[in-house]
Amino acid sequence: MDVARAFDAVAGSYDEARRRLVPCFDEFYGTAVEVAEPALRAALAAGRTPQVLDLGAGTGLLSSLIAAAVPESRVTLLDAAPKMLAVAAEHLTARAVAHRVIVADLVDPLPSGRYDAVVSAVAIHHLDDAAKRDLYRRVAETLTPGGVFVNAEQVAGPTAELDRRYHQVWLSQIAARGSDADEIAAAEQRMAYDRPAPVDEQCRWLIEAGLVDVDCFFKSWRFAVFGGHAPDLPDARAEHRGREGGSDDWWSYQR
Ligand SMILES: C[S@@+](CC[C@H](N)C(=O)[O-])C[C@H]1O[C@@H](n2cnc3c(N)ncnc32)[C@H](O)[C@@H]1O
Repeated sequence: MDVARAFDAVAGSYDEARRRLVPCFDEFYGTAVEVAEPALRAALAAGRTPQVLDLGAGTGLLSSLIAAAVPESRVTLLDAAPKMLAVAAEHLTARAVAHRVIVADLVDPLPSGRYDAVVSAVAIHHLDDAAKRDLYRRVAETLTPGGVFVNAEQVAGPTAELDRRYHQVWLSQIAARGSDADEIAAAEQRMAYDRPAPVDEQCRWLIEAGLVDVDCFFKSWRFAVFGGHAPDLPDARAEHRGREGGSDDWWSYQR
């Protein structure tokens, strides 16, 4: 079973388990929204519709939180698991969020258009390190000037000993939150696909990709939120105006 099928198999129960399996859920996702929000508000202030690309969007948890913070946003959700995206589309339609879903692999070319925020949560660690670095380069190219990339991610410990400690802490935290043996076993099975990298290394790759103001904004053991901005060019707004992220026809609304 590949990673997309592993997530599609749990699409119906995925959301319900998240708060147990991500023990710092509110700070983790909340920080990602805080990092993304100013760039979306800047797009609004410039008279544009804020465009968001969510990589490995799954059931749309992060997209939903971003749309709740900046309801004018249009969200493109990309994932290799169609059943996860079907759950996301249902949630976003119910909340009247303008969105489109794209079934694709993170190693495929990114959808055309320029994005004010490229966001991702607990997905990119499924790629090997070379593919992560390549994705970060492509993300940097798809951002509007001043646009933001934020990755709320499971990261590796900087040493093997610390990585073991991250895992022990996670196991005891999720057990304390009520994960039973079956849920823990299923999560560990999906973790066979994980290829996490340390946060400082990933921040270096973002700088290499051309992002600025790169930082780790939140970290609790294995869970880290990091990212950076595309440089803001002085004439960026004028240049960007003609290149908004696509026409209106593929956006799903429910009013
Ligand atoms: C742990 S879930 C996270 C979903 C969502 N971002 C969230 O915060 O709940 C990981 C998601 O990444 C997707 N994924 C993993 N590897 C991928 C790849 N190479 N290409 C596209 N999607 C991938 C999986 O299908 C799954 O939906």
